[in-house]
Amino acid sequence: MIYQEKMTTNSYELKFTDKSCIVTGGAGFIGSNLAIYLAKLGAYVTVLDNFSTGRKENTMDFNSLGIRIIDVDISEKEKVSEYFSGVDFVFHQAAVPSVPRSIAQPLLTNNSNIMGTLSVLENSRQSGVKKVVYAASSSAYGNTKTLPKKVSMQPSPLSPYAVQKLAGEMYCKTYFDNFQLRTTSLRYFNVYGPHQDPNSEYSAVIPIFIKKALSNETLTIFGDGNTSRDFTYIEDVIQANLRAAISHHSDGHVLNVAYGNRFTLTNLAKKIIKKIGSKSEIKYDSFRKGDVLHSLADLTLTKELIDYEPHFNLSTGLSKTIDFYR
Ligand code: UD1
Repeated sequence: MIYQEKMTTNSYELKFTDKSCIVTGGAGFIGSNLAIYLAKLGAYVTVLDNFSTGRKENTMDFNSLGIRIIDVDISEKEKVSEYFSGVDFVFHQAAVPSVPRSIAQPLLTNNSNIMGTLSVLENSRQSGVKKVVYAASSSAYGNTKTLPKKVSMQPSPLSPYAVQKLAGEMYCKTYFDNFQLRTTSLRYFNVYGPHQDPNSEYSAVIPIFIKKALSNETLTIFGDGNTSRDFTYIEDVIQANLRAAISHHSDGHVLNVAYGNRFTLTNLAKKIIKKIGSKSEIKYDSFRKGDVLHSLADLTLTKELIDYEPHFNLSTGLSKTIDFYR
């Protein structure tokens, strides 16, 4: 568990005491961290997850924290509708992530990522949920002509995953415009931290590199190593979710959630090897299909609308994450 040492009393966090919250995908990496954080703030938390990519081990503390977990597929609208009644906030984190998986299985990921989102929005609307915060993705931008990436830029998705996540945020916007369901889409930029699965062929780069470096295995970089990402620590993502949930200014908006700095893959690999004191070597392989080349967020609007301030630079976030995997 990552929050034992720090239960803050920021004023925005006090607004979740006794509130009823749903976290979809709450057995996944981001969802489980968020569900635990909310429960510790005194919220009543229900997790909806079908364990397709979510993991039982992420839910081990749920019972003791009073988090209710329902094993259900959120895309089955009628089956999940009963759980939305009386709910204040919905944090919609459920998705089948990974750019390469969406290229391998576009139909399967489409169902979870688009039908799942539509079902959550429709249930939220029918039950009078106060606010839906949606986990959107920086992949929606594709390769922009300039950096940093701003939400005013034309989206240019390069993979089915990016298309699906973009469709979800467009649905959020239309639900706000047509039905006054309050929604905010948070475009996450490469989130990492404790509880991220390092063992799947579709795992993200940071848990893969940490796991390999801990056992002195070779780290494989896809491409020439100059691909860059704005890596974002989980606690900053939680902060953005909480702030978006209680904010009215952000209704109907799409916001970037990131740290606001970028590192190349070679730089990342070297940092991890050094921090661990590993004997791992680095090898280079061909570029991965559907990959964006460079990613860096402009956070101006996020700061303006929800007062978001990232606290964890890559070095601090990596140290905390490595401690967890050790
Ligand atoms: C993308 C999104 C991210 C989203 C995620 C969900 C962008 C810029 N980011 O992440 O916001 O949360 O999808 O799945 O679109 N790599 C290696 N070696 C490995 C594994 C990966 O070099 O062993 C490389 C990849 O080719 C890629 C980079 O590392 O260039 C990051 O990959 P990954 O962690 O899978 O995330 P993105 O696809 O960038």
